[in-house]
Parts: sequence; C-alpha cells; structure tokens
Amino acid sequence: MADFEGRVAVVTGAAHGIGRATALAFGRAGASVVVADHGDAGEAVAEEVRASGAEAVFVRVDVARAPEVAALMEATEARFGRIDCLFNNAGIEGQQAPTAEATLENWDRVIAVNLGGVFYGMKYAIPALLRAGGGAIVNNASVAGLVGFAGASAYTASKGGVVQLTRTAALEYAAQGIRVNCVCPGVIDTPMVERVIQGSPAVRDAMASMQPLGRMGTPEEIAQTVLFLSSDAASFITGGVFPVDGGYVAR
Ligand SMILES: NC(=O)c1ccc[n+]([C@@H]2O[C@H](COP(=O)([O-])OP(=O)(O)OC[C@H]3O[C@@H](n4cnc5c(N)ncnc54)[C@H](O)[C@@H]3O)[C@@H](O)[C@H]2O)c1
Repeated sequence: MADFEGRVAVVTGAAHGIGRATALAFGRAGASVVVADHGDAGEAVAEEVRASGAEAVFVRVDVARAPEVAALMEATEARFGRIDCLFNNAGIEGQQAPTAEATLENWDRVIAVNLGGVFYGMKYAIPALLRAGGGAIVNNASVAGLVGFAGASAYTASKGGVVQLTRTAALEYAAQGIRVNCVCPGVIDTPMVERVIQGSPAVRDAMASMQPLGRMGTPEEIAQTVLFLSSDAASFITGGVFPVDGGYVAR
C-alpha cells in the first residue's frame, strides 16, 4: 500500500461507488481526504474515513458549476494547506436513447457534469498543486471513452473528452511536476450500474459477461489503480489512459 501520509487528496463524487471506495483507500493510506459530492451521503463517507484514522471533511459541490468547484479547491487549501492529489470522478450515466431521440437536456447535463466537471476540477486544482510543488491528477473516464456504446451519445462523447483533457493537461504540466492520467473502468458494481440493472438478474448476468474475466469489477479495484497512479510508484507515468475493465477493450 502506497504511503500518502502528509498528502491531501480531493475525490469528487465520493459519496457512493468508485469515489467512495477511493476516498476510503486514500484515508487508509494516510492521506487527508476531501469527500466532495452533491449528495448528503458524503458526510457519512467522511465519517468512515475519519473512523479509519485519517482526517476527512465533506464539501458539498455540484461539479457542473464552476464557482462551486473553485470554492471546493479554496476550502481544501484553507482546511489542509495544500492539494497533492485530485480524483475527478463524479459522473452520471444519463438517459439511454439513440442519438436522434436523445434529449437536449440530457446532452447538456451529461456534458456539463462528466466533461465540464473534469475541466473545472483540473482548472481550479492545478494552481494549488503547483503551489504544493507538484502532484497527481487522475480523471475517471470509461471504456465508453475508448469505444462506442449505442444509446449513449452524450456519455461516450463526454468520456472521450475526458481522455483528451487528460492527455492535454499531462503535456501542459509535465515540466512542473504534475502528472495527469485517466482510468477507463469497465462495468463496475456500483449504484450507477444498479440503476441500469433495475433488479433484473438477467441484465446483471449480461453486464457481468461483457467482461472477458466474466464478472463486474469492484469499486475497490478501481480505487487501487487510482492510488497507484496517484503515488510515487507511478512517478514516470503521465498522459496515460488505463483500461481497468476485465479485458473489455482487448476484444
Ligand atoms: N460503474 C461503472 O460501471 C462505471 C464504468 C465506467 C466509468 N464509470 C465512471 O465512474 C464514475 C463514478 O461512477 P459510479 O459507478 O461510482 O457512480 P455512482 O452513481 O455510484 O456514484 C457517483 C457519485 O457521484 C456523485 N455525483 C453525481 N453527479 C454529481 C455532481 N454533479 N457533482 C458532484 N457529485 C456528483 C453522486 O452523488 C454519487 O455519489 C463516473 O464518472 C462514471 O461515469 C463508472
């Protein structure tokens, strides 16, 4: 387990799923954690992190609103004095509909949260990372940023955009000691996927068998990759796009 003692990590969308698992993992590894989410459940996750012995605070933020993301980073620096790691994770699945039937509202919201949220996160955290002497950013894209998914135009466009934002920021800040990478999860067993499954065992089996490994991933399996990419063990890795997908994109 990497040592994040003395480091400060901001995790967006940390109230549930992959973000929650990553916030807990950062805490177990000794980081001070900012649990950022637009939902009330973030306070309970911050409490879980504190129960593991790390410092943690919950900050309410809608990542689609630039001023709120700026305030998140300001609050983090005010509370902990620095930002070393940022996991831009908050995201929504949006509606399932072919492109011509997808609503404009869905397009606007999915792009605003999934793509805008990652841009705002980097825009407002990078000055703090520079003040801290460098750091590591991990963005949460998806296998849907690498291949097409019928019925998910806004989602796939947003995640493809996250891949490109990652590469661009990696080039821009490499010389100043900030590494920027992204993970591309396959189907991971989280509340987001539960909403898609809607309690159907047949849909659950179908989604599990999409992965050559024959199962869904766990939020903890993504968290481990995020911690690695955020750690000094990944000191020569930047601009990387990492499928964590049970072999999904290998086909
Ligand atoms: N679960 C999967 O199979 C899967 C696969 C690939 C990528 N992802 C990506 O991983 C990320 C996390 O997904 P998850 O499955 O854990 O989702 P989830 O729905 O289980 O959890 C998402 C969290 O983000 C928060 N959130 C949503 N919109 C927000 C906003 N505007 N501002 C702040 N917080 C917000 C929610 O409150 C929730 O706590 C997303 O970006 C998602 O697209 C998930």
